Amino acid sequence: RMTGFFWMLGLTLLAQGFLCILGDVEVGCKKWVPDTQVKGNIKCVECRPGNRVAQQSGTNPQELCTPCERGTYTLKSLAFECASCTQCIALSHSNFSFPYFCGCKKGLRCGNAECSFCVDECGKGQEPTKKRDCAPCPKGTFNDQIHQKCKPFSTRCPDPTHIIVFKGNTSSDILCEFPQPPTTLPVTNPEKPGKRGTSGCC
Ligand SMILES: *[C@@H]1O[C@H](CO)[C@@H](O)[C@H](O)[C@H]1NC(C)=O
Ligand SMILES: *[C@@H]1O[C@H](CO)[C@@H](O)[C@H](O)[C@H]1NC(C)=O
Repeated sequence: RMTGFFWMLGLTLLAQGFLCILGDVEVGCKKWVPDTQVKGNIKCVECRPGNRVAQQSGTNPQELCTPCERGTYTLKSLAFECASCTQCIALSHSNFSFPYFCGCKKGLRCGNAECSFCVDECGKGQEPTKKRDCAPCPKGTFNDQIHQKCKPFSTRCPDPTHIIVFKGNTSSDILCEFPQPPTTLPVTNPEKPGKRGTSGCC
């Protein structure tokens, strides 16, 4: 019974050690220079991604930078403070460790490079607008991608031997095919010539 207990304890410690190592990899300063003001100290010039400066000067690179707290992020290499994710959620690269980056929930996407806000993700047949929402493709255009600008329909088939078989819709360009040889239609009575405009009534 005791053996089982120690075995579990060992596993737990092992798991914790593993987590610490994973965490350590991404914490602290990446590049540093000697501190000209304080002998023996170093100053960080580049923190690890998602870390901010924690100490201006010190001896341990690990302690010079610290990961942004949950709900905050930085994309700068030497940030003195982390920016807060406003509409976005903080995401981690892995489920185990720092640092956090900003991302948006499913169905939304980052509105700028810093991801300081999220916008609706526009589907096919729509395009993102300046007002941060989605609008249907204007007449004469289509969009067959997620969250892209609508493009005008092609005016001709890429292969000149093809003919247009579908004139397109908001989510599809024109479709082209090689012309099919006429299929044999079931025989019908030939139409009688019309007697259009012969009544002379007016
Ligand atoms: C993190 O956890 C979530 C939910 O448990 C899972 O869906 C996702 O795949 C995990 N991500 C990584 C990088 O392990
Ligand atoms: C547009 O055309 C494509 C290709 O024929 C079709 O798959 C799609 O359902 C159509 N979409 C709409 C909104 O009519």
